[in-house]
Amino acid sequence: MYKSEITGLGMYVPERIVTNDELSQYMDTNDQWIRERTGIEQRRWVTPGDGNSTSTMAAKASKIALERAGLTPKDIDMIVFATLSPDYYFPGSGVLLQDLLDFDNIPALDVRNQCSGFVYALATADQFIKTGMYKNILVVGSEVQSPGLDLSTRGRGISVIFGDGAGALVLSRSKGDSEILSNHLHSQGKYAKELSNLHPGCNVPPKKLVEDWDPNDFSYYPYMNGNFVFKHAVTRFPEAIMEGLNANNLTPADIDLLIPHQANLRISQFVQKKLGMKDEQIMNNIQRYGNTTAASIPIAMTEAWEQGRIKKGDLIVTSAFGSGFTWGSNIIRF
Ligand code: UT7
Repeated sequence: MYKSEITGLGMYVPERIVTNDELSQYMDTNDQWIRERTGIEQRRWVTPGDGNSTSTMAAKASKIALERAGLTPKDIDMIVFATLSPDYYFPGSGVLLQDLLDFDNIPALDVRNQCSGFVYALATADQFIKTGMYKNILVVGSEVQSPGLDLSTRGRGISVIFGDGAGALVLSRSKGDSEILSNHLHSQGKYAKELSNLHPGCNVPPKKLVEDWDPNDFSYYPYMNGNFVFKHAVTRFPEAIMEGLNANNLTPADIDLLIPHQANLRISQFVQKKLGMKDEQIMNNIQRYGNTTAASIPIAMTEAWEQGRIKKGDLIVTSAFGSGFTWGSNIIRF
């Protein structure tokens, strides 16, 4: 059995900075509420016409990750693309990325696990390397969420949270001690609707939305039962992290850097406290980017690496929880 290692990291966020004060011009909210309840100070949103889409931002992040890995698109055997906000209803954004850079006709797999998308994508790529089927896989998380948000006061509980951005990593067959030690993945579909965007879908296709357009129907915007999701998140995050650590006979004290999905700063602080971890053991950048769903872990990992907070040999743990519900963790010897 082969092992896989992370050989390159990259990220891209749109230029436009959206402050909490700007949001208070669109809806009844304020900087203090958003900071206190979520930790978010600003987020990046695409601007119509700036050329940024889920796939083009992924391409920008991927180029950086490839360069840092010392590889070209020709070296990549597969794309695994996590997003909840694909460019199109279909096909997925993976094939669009395949077309944007100079890849061969390699497989492109789209992962639809929302906030846990990157944890699932990394676990999936790891399996293809472990079996020996592929040597270099590009794993991407990219989201353009802002155009789909309800910016009226009705949507304030969810719309102030989300940001746009992309992160990518190259996963390669390991030549040394670096490896993905384990992946643990879970789902609980009975709570599918608690954090969801139900339409359009097969029951309400886009054509029906147009024909029966009702300005008071908000089912085509994201919905979140905030308190309910929060309560599950603070249970599932530590559970998934401990499951991974226990499988490797490790403890929270062994973690050099925990990179949680950036859902809410309060959730990350709760997890840190529950696991008895120090500030320097946890990566938080939600303050500047908001919750970028499948992109949040690769963006945070890239920033941590750029800041020198991830070094060769470090024990890195990623964990996510979100819509589905889905959750999981990856335990990584970097
Ligand atoms: O990434 C995937 C997973 N996602 C998560 O894990 C997110 C989990 N949930 C959360 O992070 C939090 O539940 C939120 C940040 C979404 C909401 O925070 P909360 O502390 O749970 O607030 P709440 O929903 O209980 O609302 C408290 C009050 C309400 O007013 P009343 O009923 O007490 O008068 C809301 O209407 O705050 C009000 N409120 C707001 N006020 C100003 C809700 N959103 C806003 C807002 N600005 N943006």
